[in-house]
Amino acid sequence: MDKSLEEILQEAADKFALAADSHALYEAKTAFLGKMGRLGALYKKLRELPEAERPAFGAQINELRRAIEERVVAIEEKLHAREMSARLEKEQVDVTMPGRRRRQGTLHPVTRVKNLLIDVFAGMGFEVFEGPEIETDYYNFTALNTPADHPARDMQDTFYLADGLLLRTQTSAGQIRMMEKKQPPIKMLSPGRVFRSDDDATHSPMFHQMEGLVVDKNITLCDLQGMLDEFARVVFGKNSKTRLRPSYFPFTEPSVEVDVSCHACGGKGCSLCKGTGWIEVLGAGMVNRRVLENCNIDPDVYSGFAFGMGIERIAMLKYGINNIKLLTENDVRFLSQFKD
Ligand code: DAH
Repeated sequence: MDKSLEEILQEAADKFALAADSHALYEAKTAFLGKMGRLGALYKKLRELPEAERPAFGAQINELRRAIEERVVAIEEKLHAREMSARLEKEQVDVTMPGRRRRQGTLHPVTRVKNLLIDVFAGMGFEVFEGPEIETDYYNFTALNTPADHPARDMQDTFYLADGLLLRTQTSAGQIRMMEKKQPPIKMLSPGRVFRSDDDATHSPMFHQMEGLVVDKNITLCDLQGMLDEFARVVFGKNSKTRLRPSYFPFTEPSVEVDVSCHACGGKGCSLCKGTGWIEVLGAGMVNRRVLENCNIDPDVYSGFAFGMGIERIAMLKYGINNIKLLTENDVRFLSQFKD
């Protein structure tokens, strides 16, 4: 190779040796091999030579190019290997490190009981109907045989809104909406939030109820108790029994209060059932003729029963929860106890 070309090769080798990383090497490489680099200038010179001299000089440049390329490749390999091991070092993954555990949520006890109740009654052919939480006075009271001056209105402290609207105090309002829509046979289950101005260890201004309504020919109180027995067995255990006590609700006649045998003591009497062996769980009764009439259902042809229970109350009894506030505080230590 011509002396001056050998000098270029040496110069290139020195530059490459100084390259600290592959980026610097690339820059150095283009300074020699690139179009605008040293070789570019030699090719330009080649074109300017007399024709006879060109092949020899051309061969020389090509040799120089090959020699430079060889050196680049050698250094390139070294740099790549070094960079790769530095990167592997830096991005090392400790496969023995314990994984970050993702905590799994659990269903809220109120949701659990609601789902359980829906399961029980859907199994008996009930369809779920959810009415509105903001109701008219008519659906929440009047149509349920509780006109404005009726003393039974005092049983429930109502949040009244403007224009004859209110926050429903009971899911019973859904009974009317259902019966207005549909003639018997009706088998409706209506879960939902209800609101009352009431606040202590067992009452909360917002709570959930589950309403049931059956209307058909020849429906009797025995049908009610048969279905509630099944409900009690599923929710409180297979040896549970129910008992009906006379009570009063404006929308049922006769009305009953339903007790379930105490699941904590099996009926012998304990602190939960206050020594009686029975726990009151819901209100029920035969749908009042007037209510059927209000919905254009003929009370001489059809009869029905209805029941309504507080879902929080059932959850508190079932799981032994002593303060309703625990159900709305959302303390994970409390909620995480409810697992399958
Ligand atoms: N609505 C009643 C309450 O909130 C519960 C109730 C009682 C519902 C008797 C009914 C029923 O459907 O027949 O206290």
